[in-house]
Amino acid sequence: MIITHDLNEFLRERGHLDMIDVSFVPTMGALHEGHLALVKKAKKIAKHCIVSVFVNPLQFDQKEDFLRYPKLEKEDVHLLEQNQVDIVWFPKVEDIYPRGFDTRIEIGGPALQWEGALRKGHFSGVATVVYRLFSLVKPKFACFGEKDWQQIQVIHRMVKDLLLPVTLVNVPIVREKDGLAKSSRNRFLTSEERSRAPFLYKILQEAYLKLKSGGNISLILSNAIEALEKKEFKVDYFCAVDGNSLQKITKWNDNARLIAAVKLGSVRLLDNI
Ligand code: PAJ
Repeated sequence: MIITHDLNEFLRERGHLDMIDVSFVPTMGALHEGHLALVKKAKKIAKHCIVSVFVNPLQFDQKEDFLRYPKLEKEDVHLLEQNQVDIVWFPKVEDIYPRGFDTRIEIGGPALQWEGALRKGHFSGVATVVYRLFSLVKPKFACFGEKDWQQIQVIHRMVKDLLLPVTLVNVPIVREKDGLAKSSRNRFLTSEERSRAPFLYKILQEAYLKLKSGGNISLILSNAIEALEKKEFKVDYFCAVDGNSLQKITKWNDNARLIAAVKLGSVRLLDNI
């Protein structure tokens, strides 16, 4: 496995792989089973697999969140080595955003609400970095996790609108045994919060079953929000949306998605079903 922090070395090593048959997994590191599910999928669909680890400053609206984002390079390399990735690239900020860099990708539609409305500039930062990574990696496939459902839809929009020559592959959410969606930020939950955190998935599942069997959407959603607030979760949103446009829906259907973001202590939990 090639491990590199240097752009020129990365490009040289990329050149040694098959030009076409390459899959790519962009990450911000602090890797867990969720990321590794993407790596396993990526390895299955192409001859070579490239992983990037880059905590992208452009997508954080809160400086503290950026500064405290876990950096576990040694552990990440170890996990990726076990999974036999071809290249792990740790880009430097100046390679992704060189002096004078002054372009942003702004996406409408699926990027406008929810995370897009609550975290100003977030999806523009995500899209800009992913575009730039795609330009350098030139993958045939790129894998993204359904954990960040809205992010997937935003990247799909960009790939379609900008005619990017990459096929996106969605990977289902990987959860802890108790249902909590795995996340690099879960480590910041206190043990008391950690024991309460799976309640979000429990409520999502209950609401989903009721919606599927034709219950009243606004009643089901308001009951779910009430149940979460009673347990001291601060609900940013808990909503039924169209799975692609992320627009609110009034009638449940096969393409619908229930999306949620709640705050538990200092940690924001994101989940969907
Ligand atoms: P990061 O949060 O590190 O996630 C990298 C990828 O892993 C994303 O596609 C995310 O959806 C996926 N992932 C995380 N937890 C998961 C889980 N429990 N199950 C399945 N997939 C999971 O998302 C980002 O980084 C960044 O925004 C990035 C796309 C790298 C751009 O900077």
